[in-house]
Amino acid sequence: MRYTLSPSMLSADFAKIGEQFGILAEAGVRWIHIDVMDGAFVPNLSIGVPEIKSIRKCSSLFFDVHLMINEPIRYIDAFADAGAEMITVHYEACSDLHATLAKIRERGIKCAVSIKPKTSVDVLKEYLDEIDMILVMSVEPGFGGQSYIPESTERLAAIRKMITESGREIDLEVDGGVNAKTIETVLDAGANVIVAGSAVFKDDLYETAKHFNEIVEARNNA
Ligand code: DX5
Ligand code: ZN
Repeated sequence: MRYTLSPSMLSADFAKIGEQFGILAEAGVRWIHIDVMDGAFVPNLSIGVPEIKSIRKCSSLFFDVHLMINEPIRYIDAFADAGAEMITVHYEACSDLHATLAKIRERGIKCAVSIKPKTSVDVLKEYLDEIDMILVMSVEPGFGGQSYIPESTERLAAIRKMITESGREIDLEVDGGVNAKTIETVLDAGANVIVAGSAVFKDDLYETAKHFNEIVEARNNA
């Protein structure tokens, strides 16, 4: 299992996006978490296919694309063509999740399922053979800068146990409210891919990204 920091682009300065991606790479970051919102599954809008296609040209970071959209099966090809290397879809947003995951795998990229804070962790059991990663939302999806929901810790631990018992190599990503105060908690609970948006994109991006990246990467050498 590899520990990875995936800074959320939602909190980036879009006017300087190429420069900021360069700074992240210099700080040792390998992944970027890209939030796509449709104003329907979540009460907010963000970026979509053209923006991802455009930033693909200026970065070799691993594109971890989090789709907060209804029936994402309609757009898997478009996001894969734009350069997504991992696509996460929401359990709550898919009328046929098996087919949606199959569509992602057909494209030869990694696939993941996300659950919102109030969705039972047990729904995931049926999909363990079909996924590379599980994304646990530790805030209600839609906005950056919210506070970590404390119950997420036991949910992470329960899912890590479920993964271990399955004998499969599935990454466990956590998203929402991860900062200097909560990062060790989510790592201890079993998360190995850590999303952080507002906590990373601060005044001195290089220093903050380097700091958070070192905390996460330290677990690879432990
Ligand atoms: C929220 C998004 C997150 C968001 C996290 O729905 O999925 O990725 O950017 O932001 P922070 O880290 O500020 O909670
Ligand atoms: Zn996200």
